[in-house]
Amino acid sequence: MNVLADLRRRFRAALESLDAGAGEVADMVLPSKDPKFGDYQANCAMPLGKRLGRPPREIAQELVDRLEVADLCEPPEIAGPGFINLRIRDDWLRDQLTQIVGDPNQGDPDRLGIVPTEEPKTYVLDFSSPNVAKPMHVGHIRSTVIGDALCRVLRQLGHRVISDNHIGDWGTQFGMIIYGYKHFADPQAIATDAVGELSRLYQRVNQLVDYHATREQKTPAIEQQIVELAARLEQMHDATELENPKDRKKADKRQRQSEGQLVDLRATLDNLRNQMAAAENDPELGPLLSQHADIGTAVLAETAALHAGDPTNQALWDQFLPACLASIDETYDRLHVTFDHSLGESFYHDRLAGVVEELVERDLARESEGAICVFLENDDAPFIIRKKDGAFLYATTDLATVQYRMAEWTPDAIIYVVDHRQSFHFKQLFETVKLWGYEGVQLEHVSFGTVLGEDGRPYKTRSGTAVGLTGLLDEAVERALKIVCDNDNARDVPLLSEEQRQSNAERIGIGAIKYADLAHNRTSDYVFSYDKMLAMNGNTAAYMQYSYARVRSIFGKGDIDVDSLRKSDAKLQLDHPSERALALALLQFSETLERVATDFRPNHLTAYLFELASAYSRFFENCPVLKAEDDQQRNSRLRLCDLTARTLAKGLDLLGIQVVERM
Ligand code: ARG
Repeated sequence: MNVLADLRRRFRAALESLDAGAGEVADMVLPSKDPKFGDYQANCAMPLGKRLGRPPREIAQELVDRLEVADLCEPPEIAGPGFINLRIRDDWLRDQLTQIVGDPNQGDPDRLGIVPTEEPKTYVLDFSSPNVAKPMHVGHIRSTVIGDALCRVLRQLGHRVISDNHIGDWGTQFGMIIYGYKHFADPQAIATDAVGELSRLYQRVNQLVDYHATREQKTPAIEQQIVELAARLEQMHDATELENPKDRKKADKRQRQSEGQLVDLRATLDNLRNQMAAAENDPELGPLLSQHADIGTAVLAETAALHAGDPTNQALWDQFLPACLASIDETYDRLHVTFDHSLGESFYHDRLAGVVEELVERDLARESEGAICVFLENDDAPFIIRKKDGAFLYATTDLATVQYRMAEWTPDAIIYVVDHRQSFHFKQLFETVKLWGYEGVQLEHVSFGTVLGEDGRPYKTRSGTAVGLTGLLDEAVERALKIVCDNDNARDVPLLSEEQRQSNAERIGIGAIKYADLAHNRTSDYVFSYDKMLAMNGNTAAYMQYSYARVRSIFGKGDIDVDSLRKSDAKLQLDHPSERALALALLQFSETLERVATDFRPNHLTAYLFELASAYSRFFENCPVLKAEDDQQRNSRLRLCDLTARTLAKGLDLLGIQVVERM
């Protein structure tokens, strides 16, 4: 049952009958934040009052008069300036939930009141999409975990979902490892640990490229800025002799700002020089620096040769790629993330020339300073689809990818789960795709913020490199194991075998990382903290898993046969306020999933699960279950427990998180 959708439908009808076109504010019906204001609240009288130039309270009254909700709600109440507060009728709530608890009509114990969408759509979800040849790092968590949760929720609602991992398997990073292989490879290491060796090669080349870029480009650019700023400051000194005190004050301020900038620039320069000195003094790296002075261009040349079909580079790529893919697959296995397709960038290589040709032919792209560009309205920079040297770009591949996906799957929507730094790319891509003629398809950049360390800066290792994903997962599991063992050892008689402890730790550790990521509003940055994510209290996976195990333990304790419990069709009893509150929370599962699917935000679901677990906790404190007053009450409460456990497990499952039976 989707109560929210039903209420909105009824509001829409009432709104339309009041004023044609007013239905658009029906979405202002929402679950209320505070039970004081009922179960749902509608704020639409306020904007409507403004539009019609009438007191909102009057409008609210008229709306309430037209609203047909008597079967579902108590008589609506109008509060404050014109809020409409709705309280679900107890008998209606009881009947709905009695149905869901047993699911007798639907025959699917997994349905849990979830209403399948009325308009099934085809979604392509582009997520995870790491650049392989370098190990996966902390930055890849968000796209992988958010994308996977969205796939699961959309599928659960009855949509057709095609997940496609757009692997970066054709970019400069391969030019880098090819160069590294040709100059620094240790054949022994390649044979025994290909991925480790490739990652070492990648890092070595990266250091060299970085050093030369710092020396030849970054440092001179900063030096130039310093000279210019110093010259400007010099002129400003004269300005301080101005007569008008106001002007003098302004000039003073400007001078201080510039002096501040100069200090910053000098600090940056020092920093760069220190980095270079460290590289020069490094016993391994130092001697290589001068031998590989042209490494930047050489790497690009290796990449270009690969793209042009050079047999040696192609053979190296063929040799390296399987190891790279096997390594990311290990991570996906551990995360229980799967893809329907993994069509990497290389898959589109042969289509790129055709895409550029077509866009030029149709006058959508043209040459500019040797490059081929799409010029979009209001953009400072064009969307470049072929470089001066003939190379294609990330943008070109993305255009070919859209073309392929449209032809292959005719999706209604393509969803890209990619970090916020690529927003401009996607804005330009989407505009170009529309000009190209794919007007009907919904294109969404589901963007997300950065994972930060406790110091508030992007999460890095002490040496400044990105934190590897495998190590991150290992550490979470290790810490979870300690918690599992401590808890179990604190029991009079420990319950868990060594194997169970390990498997629980894996579920709890990985769950903690996933949940912490999903529980944050995806557009914000968040601070990665093992302590917070593994806390047993608060909005964490561990708390949800604990809540689940706690509910389930009742069935063991009472020796209850869940199957026959579910067959009972006696009406539930929701007499205690915390029974009613739990029932209402259980009923709101379906509408929560719909909200996740509407704005692609899994944090609606985590917030919901937290609410549900809290409602259960209050119920558990106030309402004895095994020691209920009579059999009927006991049976009713047990069925509420069962539905709570199933809803928690299902909700976590839709986030890609597994439950544990004992914690
Ligand atoms: N490989 C890219 C990166 O790591 C992300 C790809 C996202 N998907 C896409 N179709 N552009 O930045």
